[in-house]
This record gives sequence, structure tokens and C-alpha cells, in this order.
Amino acid sequence: TVKEIYREPNPFLNQKVELSGWVRTVRTSKTFGFIEINDGSFFENLQVVFEESLANFQEIGKLTISSAIRVQGELVPSPGAKQPFELKAENIEILSVSAADYPLQKKRHTFEYLRTIAHLRPRTNTFAAVFRLRSMIAYAIHKFFQEKGFVYVHTPIITGSDAEGAGEMFKVTALDLANPPKDSEGNVDFSKDFFGRPTSLTVSGQLNVETYCMAFRNVYTFGPTFRAENSNTARHAAEFWMIEPEIAFANLTDNMNLAEEMMKYLIQYALDNAPEEMAFFNNFVDKTLFERLENILSSEFAHVTYTEAVEMLEKEDFKFEYPVSWGMDLQTEHERYLTEKIFKKPVFVTDYPKGIKAFYMRLNEDNKTVAAMDLLVPGVGEIIGGSQREERIEILQDRMQEAGLKAEDYWWYLDLRRYGGVPHAGYGLGFERVIMYLTGIANIRDVISFPRTTNSSEF
Ligand code: 4AD
Ligand code: MG
Repeated sequence: TVKEIYREPNPFLNQKVELSGWVRTVRTSKTFGFIEINDGSFFENLQVVFEESLANFQEIGKLTISSAIRVQGELVPSPGAKQPFELKAENIEILSVSAADYPLQKKRHTFEYLRTIAHLRPRTNTFAAVFRLRSMIAYAIHKFFQEKGFVYVHTPIITGSDAEGAGEMFKVTALDLANPPKDSEGNVDFSKDFFGRPTSLTVSGQLNVETYCMAFRNVYTFGPTFRAENSNTARHAAEFWMIEPEIAFANLTDNMNLAEEMMKYLIQYALDNAPEEMAFFNNFVDKTLFERLENILSSEFAHVTYTEAVEMLEKEDFKFEYPVSWGMDLQTEHERYLTEKIFKKPVFVTDYPKGIKAFYMRLNEDNKTVAAMDLLVPGVGEIIGGSQREERIEILQDRMQEAGLKAEDYWWYLDLRRYGGVPHAGYGLGFERVIMYLTGIANIRDVISFPRTTNSSEF
């Protein structure tokens, strides 16, 4: 493969090789020509040199971009400065001729345009690098947790409970909605549904994973989650992937230590295992990427309480669109100001007012704040949200009531507090946000294969 050829030492130099792939460019003169071929193993191409001695020389010269060929020949050092090796073709078999209106040209296309051809964009260098890295980082996440003995739990996609209590769920039903069964008041009768009650797509696997945490101690889930939030931003998608570890006999500090160790592990993994892709991002997407990531590896994350953060932001002369005051949820502009201007590195914001955080977060001594933590990073803002969980059943029941949640819907969740409940904590890492962070790509639509945002479900 091209990937093997580009790695030192190249085992194929001056050998006969066979390579199949897709044509990226063709240039010909009267007696010879060049083809750049991509075989899918690497985001770089290999140059093929062919001469008029080939029987199908004329046809090869007319090949359209994205045609598929199989080449036999010798891999030799390239006299050209642009590439270290080239393949001297002895035979070229044409496997498929692409239609001439292939939309990807050699020039650079805008990300906006490429979103309209999401089915073809993985063939560009940028997207090949992004999605190769995405695959590697998914593996690295499993490796990190598995090597620590965490048990991977598959939590359900279809669920009857709102894990965040925020009412942002996509409904799921097996009923014929054109002609649904109705109850005596004329409302759709979900008890007649396949699921026997109203159900939705999960917003988080956390509540389910907590149950396994109380059996295995250290667990994680990693899967797709869904949010029907109508926020048309560069960092929100209606379908995204989330990593949610949960640790028992642990508090908020243990939780933050795990998150920091994981973030550094993922950065190091990307630099070690995808050096060419990372160099590409540093050259073409974000020139400060390496500097930023290397600074992080060699320093500790900052810590600040929500209350301190609000005081810091209030003192700034900077005019925010939303003025800051204690009790409000921090907006993206505040989060980014904190991490990019004040701390200039990743920062954990802890102990948020209970009114703006989920019902399951552990109430602090002051009765006003909860043991929550968000990790904010430059360029992205919130990348992780987590907390210590409320293990005291009476307080949890009170918090659920305040949040308007019915205890009987969460009976199994409350059972965890009745049967051997212990202090425990966990967090959720947005997978797309970590890919944005590692690549410097600014829009979530460009790090997920087929983004689900408002008005986008064509592919
Ligand atoms: O802060 P969130 O909502 O936390 C939870 O869901 C908890 N149940 C996690 C836990 O403690 N187990 O979401 C966690 C992270 C965010 O920090 C963000 O990175 C990402 O998930 N996220 C999104 N990513 C893309 N699009 C969206 N709409 C997202 N919403 C959250
Ligand atoms: Mg959050």
C-alpha cells in the first residue's frame, strides 16, 4: 500500500510491486505521462510514470479523474523533488472509467462546498486525514480505558428516561402516527406502542452506565447520542458520539484527574500514531496546532470555580454580548474568553449553581452549588461535562422533584442509592469536539461523516 511505501524504511524500494487505486491527476506528453494514484491506505498519493511503450498508452492518457486502475511495475527513487518515490509502470489495467463530470477538481474546494457532496469528500486530502484520525482516536479511547481495566458497557439507544432532564429528546415510536390509538382524552396512547410507553433516542448513556458502575466499579460507554436542540452552531450536532466513563469510590477530583490524563493520552496518541496527518493539519488547517498541543502536554490544566470565574469575567473590560452574572449558564463567548484569554490553556470550571445543572449532580455543602466540572479548551470551548453524582437518596429525590421528574420513572436509578450506593463520578467527552480540538477544524460538520444538524439529512 501507499502507506507502507511512505513509512521508513520502505521495504519495496527497487522491487516489483502491484498497486490498485484511483486516479487523482493525469499529465501526458507525446512519449510519456504521470498519474497520481490514491489507494485509500494513506492520504498521500503515489506518482506512476508510464511510457508510450504501453499498449494502452493512448487510453491511459485520456483517463478521467477518479477512474480506477491496477498498476504493475518497479518502485524507484523519484528524480522529482515533490515525491520521494515513483512507480515505473510496466502494465496498467483500466478497471473503471469515471464519468467526466466528477465534482472534485485538483484545486482546493471550500468546506461549505464539500458538505454538499458529503458522499465524495472523504476522497479529498483534508477529509481523508480527518477521518483517518477519527478512526485512530476511537481506537485510542478504547485502548486508554481498557488498559486501565474499565469495562465497556453498551447502553441503549432507545430509552424511556431523559438522562439530562432537559427535554431535548427525539421521539421514537412504532405506532402508525397517521392513525394512532387514542386514550379517552384523545391523546396518543403510547401504552399501546411496541415499547408500552413514550420512548426517545438517548441523550446520554450516563444513567444506564451508572448501574454497571455499581457492579464493576470502573466502566465507560462510547456510542451515538441524540439531541433535539435547535442550536445552529459550529459546535452542536443533533447526532454526536460521546464517551462517558463512570468511576466508583471516587469524587470530583478523581474525575478531573482521569479527564486530564485521558486528554493528554489522546493528544500524545495522535502525535505518535498519525504524524503525517497531524503535520498536514498544522500546515493547512491551523498553524498553531502543534505549539498548542505540545504546551498542553507539558503543563497542568487550570482549575477555577464557577463563582471565581464569574468574578473574573465581571472584572474584564471586554464587552460580552451576554453580560455575566452569578446564576446564569456561561455562554460560549464567556467559556472561550476564560480558556483563550484569561488562562490560555485548558481549564476545569467547577461547582456550578444547581439551578443550571442536571438533577443527578451532587449538592455541595453550601446548598447552592453542585459538584460539577466542565473542561473548557481553547478553540472549542466546552469539550467535557461531568460531575460527582448525588448518592444520598433523599437529596436526589428532592432534586428530581425540583426538576419536575417523576420518581417512579427513575425507580431503578434510585435503587442504586438503596443497594450499596457509594460516592461515584463520571463525565462525558464529546467525540466530535475532541476531533475538532486535535485537528483545528472549526466546524463540527467537518469532523463527522454525515452531519445531522438543522436541515441536513440528505446523505
Ligand atoms: O455536558 P453534557 O450534556 O453532559 C452529559 O451528557 C453527561 N450525561 C455526561 C456525563 O457526565 N456522563 O455533554 C457532554 C459533552 C459536552 O461537553 C460536549 O463535548 C458534548 O458532550 N456535546 C455535544 N457535542 C456535539 N453536539 C452537541 N449537541 C453536544 N451536546 C453535548
Ligand atoms: Mg455540558
